[in-house]
Amino acid sequence: MARRALITGITGQDGSYLAEHLLREGYEVWGLARGQANPRVSRMRKLLADVQVVRGDLLDQGSLISAVERVQPDEVYNLGAISFVPMSWEQAELTAEVTGMGVLRMLEAIRVCSGVSRGGTAAGGQIRFYQASSSEMFGQVSETPQNERTGFHPRSPYGVAKAYGHFLTQNYRESYGMFAVSGILFNHESPRRGAEFVTRKVSLGVARIKLGLADELRLGNLEARRDWGFAGDYVRAMHLMLQAATPEDYVIGTGRMKSVRELAEAAFAAAGLDWERYVVTDQALHRPAEVDLLCADPKKARVQLGWEPTVSFDELVALMVESDLRLLSDGGDPDQDSSWP
Ligand code: NAP
Ligand code: GDD
Repeated sequence: MARRALITGITGQDGSYLAEHLLREGYEVWGLARGQANPRVSRMRKLLADVQVVRGDLLDQGSLISAVERVQPDEVYNLGAISFVPMSWEQAELTAEVTGMGVLRMLEAIRVCSGVSRGGTAAGGQIRFYQASSSEMFGQVSETPQNERTGFHPRSPYGVAKAYGHFLTQNYRESYGMFAVSGILFNHESPRRGAEFVTRKVSLGVARIKLGLADELRLGNLEARRDWGFAGDYVRAMHLMLQAATPEDYVIGTGRMKSVRELAEAAFAAAGLDWERYVVTDQALHRPAEVDLLCADPKKARVQLGWEPTVSFDELVALMVESDLRLLSDGGDPDQDSSWP
């Protein structure tokens, strides 16, 4: 019988790539989707016709228990979150509820449905759980590069909520013997990245300027540095973590850092343009507390999981710019949920 996976955050970037990967691996894939008329669900269904949908919300404990009871998953991937860092200052309580408490609700749903009791021995249950932890937890970094032992100093309500989910996942592993792991993933991008994140904002901006649809691109802090990889590579790591012999946490990234300035330079160059003619910096786009740099040390994942990234920074930027040039040339509208390259 095919193994069954339940993915929260199925309508997001990672949910789509992970579902494709698991379908290729022969899984029966279920996606948890919220809302009674969520337009992102129809977009997801078009791209991923073989994914089955179960309704539920990370804010609603009962709906998660029902989803786990109905799907009877072998593996649960918790990707659902408020994931845009600036929004976490605007809606800090909602971020805590979805990105933080949502992890507790999902773990409790698994614990209850697996019959793992609070008082008993750490029997663990059969369902394996993946938590989408984030390099944002490192925040103001204490060392570079960051590995599984680096301390956390989150700089946003999002980072704080992720740290709660991270520690709780460890705690359920230690308290109940559950196979519960966190992937501490560094920034990963793709043509399916939300338009609010800087890589996609830049690739869309370049495409608009190249096609004569815009004449400038407004950005915030050009000096921030990130370790950017390709989302398709990172979902393979999520799956590998749940196939390991023992439940452990892993850092996933490329080990290379680039600044937002270098990102802009590379993206404009990919379209034959000079970034300095078009990029305008805007103080309003700076954050209340910035994460200046993030750079992964992914050695543990390489040695223990055999995981390696396959797409370089320049290849990633080029593929995003090419995809957005195609999308806009074909009359696609990235603000409409129907278009998803
Ligand atoms: P994304 O594209 O923003 O997707 C977020 C998903 O969360 C969407 O499917 C959204 O569904 C869902 N969601 C929001 N509120 C929910 C709720 N109340 N109940 C259930 N689902 C809800 O994010 P992503 O880039 O794919 O990232 C996936 C996960 O990895 C997130 O947890 C993110 O924080 C984490 N992460 C991402 C990166 C990265 O660089 N991409 C790095 C480290 C960690 P709707 O369609 O219903 O809004
Ligand atoms: N979004 C955005 N827009 N960011 C900008 C801009 C802009 O106009 N100008 C400069 N930046 C800088 C931000 O200040 C930040 O330092 C960097 O670009 C990256 O911003 P985002 O692409 O929004 O990503 P993030 O690093 O804040 O968060 C992403 O990666 C995390 C993992 O490190 C998200 O995917 C999180 O969900 C994820 O956990």
